[in-house]
This record gives sequence, structure tokens and C-alpha cells, in this order.
Amino acid sequence: MAHSDTLSRFRVRPAEPQDCPEILRLIKELAAYENMPDAVQLTEEDLVRDGFGSQPYFQCLVAEVVDGEKQEEPKIVGFAMYYYTYDPWIGKLLYLEDFYVMDDYRGWGIGTELLKKLSQIALDTNCGCMHFLVVVWNKPSIEYYMRRGASDLSTEEGWHLFRFDKENLLRMAMGE
Ligand code: COA
Repeated sequence: MAHSDTLSRFRVRPAEPQDCPEILRLIKELAAYENMPDAVQLTEEDLVRDGFGSQPYFQCLVAEVVDGEKQEEPKIVGFAMYYYTYDPWIGKLLYLEDFYVMDDYRGWGIGTELLKKLSQIALDTNCGCMHFLVVVWNKPSIEYYMRRGASDLSTEEGWHLFRFDKENLLRMAMGE
């Protein structure tokens, strides 16, 4: 549980287009944490277009910290990127794509507050559940989610995530 002094020092709000440079910084930090530092190909412009254009493909919450003594601009230290998807058995669901809090700010309750806001959004938009992926070696996060009631669909139901890469898409599109 976070102390009241840390709670009063952060707030969670919906992201705005001008947050995209900071969101990209955090996306890259999370990719490095997941041992894939060079995997991020997106640019700030991609994020602005895809998140805040005429047809947004994702939504995002950011957590920012205010240091009252230093009177600096609030600093974005965490984010949750999500979008809606559809399951033909259960209907609308909220898909949590990225979830990250910077190392120095972990344990403040920021992740818990992000999950609280996401849960409220999911319920308000009639989503039956929230799905997300966790890499199998990320034990701290698996435990973090399990402590909050998450189920592991791979071990419990045997689902595996598959991908057709662009080469295969091109091949199939050409009818080969
Ligand atoms: N660092 C990390 N965790 C700490 C901590 C510290 N210094 N001090 C205490 N904790 C404990 C807290 O007590 C809390 O335990 P609980 O689960 O019993 O409540 C938990 O760790 C942290 O909770 P909270 O403060 O709400 O979350 P957070 O702001 O630290 O964010 C993550 C949680 C998972 C987002 C964050 O740890 C993270 O970004 N991890 C690395 C990236 C990652 O794995 N992302 C998820 C990918 S699927």
C-alpha cells in the first residue's frame, strides 16, 4: 500500500498528443527491460497519428510525478497503453498492451492506481475482462498480476500467441 505522501505526489490522467515523446521513452525502457532494446521501430509521429488521429488505434494513461519543492514540470514516470478488442465468446474486452513504471518510482502504488483506472474504464465501457501478455521469465510481474487475481491462460487453457510476419502476409496476399 502506498504512503499518503507518495500518493499526493503522483497523478494518473489520460495521455495527450504532447506526451508522445515521453511515452516513446517509456516504451523503449520497457523494451530494454524485456531484453529487446532494438525492437521499437515506432516514432513520436507514429504515436501521435495512431493514438490521437481521426481513428485512434490505442489509448493511453500516464502517471506523472510532481515535486512540489523543485517547482519543475510534472515528470511522466509510468504509462498504460490499451485498446478495445472483441472476443466472439465474451464480446468486448480491454487489451492492456503496455504497462510500465520507472524503476525509481516502483512500489509507490502507481501501478495499482493505473490498474484501478483501467478497471473502471473497462467496466464503464462494458468490457467483460482485460487481457494482457507477460513474458514467461518476468516472474515479478506475473506474481504482481496473480496477487490481483489474474489467470494464466497459457497454462490453464493452453493458448499460444502466434504471428504471421510481413513476409508471410505478402506471400499469402500474393496467393503463393
Ligand atoms: N519496487 C518494486 N516493487 C515494490 C517496491 C519497489 N521498490 N517496493 C515495494 N514493492 C511492492 C509493493 O509493495 C507492491 O506489492 P503488491 O503487489 O503486494 O501491492 C508492488 O511491489 C508494487 O505495486 P505498485 O506500486 O502498485 O506497482 P508499481 O508502480 O511498482 O508498478 C509494475 C508495477 C509491474 C508496472 C512495475 O513493477 C514495472 O514497471 N515493472 C517492470 C515492467 C513490467 O514488468 N511491466 C509489465 C509488463 S507485462
